[in-house]
Amino acid sequence: MQKSSLDEIRQRFDNDVERFSNLDTGQKTTIDAPFTLELITSAAQILCPNADQVLDIGCGAGNYTVKLLSKLPNLNCSLVDLSQAMLDKAKERVENITHGQVNIQQQDILQYHYGDSQLDIVLAGAVLHHLRSDGDWQTVFTKIYKALKPGGCLFVVDLIEHESSMVSQFIWNQYGEYLIDLGGESYKDDVLAYIDKEDSPRSLNFQMKTLYNAGFSTIDILHKNLCFGAYVAIK
Ligand SMILES: C[S@@+](CC[C@H](N)C(=O)[O-])C[C@H]1O[C@@H](n2cnc3c(N)ncnc32)[C@H](O)[C@@H]1O
Repeated sequence: MQKSSLDEIRQRFDNDVERFSNLDTGQKTTIDAPFTLELITSAAQILCPNADQVLDIGCGAGNYTVKLLSKLPNLNCSLVDLSQAMLDKAKERVENITHGQVNIQQQDILQYHYGDSQLDIVLAGAVLHHLRSDGDWQTVFTKIYKALKPGGCLFVVDLIEHESSMVSQFIWNQYGEYLIDLGGESYKDDVLAYIDKEDSPRSLNFQMKTLYNAGFSTIDILHKNLCFGAYVAIK
């Protein structure tokens, strides 16, 4: 199947801002969304207590940065997304609560200029699965590694694939049951159809290998439930 183009992805998210603006539920199609928001931001607070620069790639309406600011309130925040509608919402929410500066940039995470040894925390919530080729993943991880200060952390929460096709089928069936409980059979079909069209997730093993290749030496899995996972990679 021909996967969605960047333009198609941008248009879909332009029309979906409200669904990504609820801190209490997170994005409901993501299993454990509120738990993961809390987990990742608590881990960031513990691992990077003196942080002053956060970059949120694929920030959406800013849920991860907003949650992080409840724990580290003085951060300077850079927010990057394809969707200007998402960025506008994220900026409004983040500016209300940080004592630091807020910069937004409408940009593809593959093309973004990440800089050099400037960042304490990079947040990547449900965005990397939009990368298409293995080389794209390598490029983004390498740029993030270069942009982090020593000791800086990349936090990833994402949809993940599995290496065994039997495990994969089992996991997607289980996720299908979760979606039926959430919204019924046709809701499940709709969600799985747009994942098929729009997303190209990778296994945790692939991501770990690619992160090591990019230079990261310490990586820990923080959570996994069916086809969703969260981890930290430390420079
Ligand atoms: C599933 S949403 C997640 C939003 C937010 N991180 C969260 O967890 O609530 C994915 C976001 O990534 C953005 N996005 C997708 N592909 C992107 C790309 N290549 N570059 C920048 N942003 C991208 C979309 O516009 C959307 O806002």
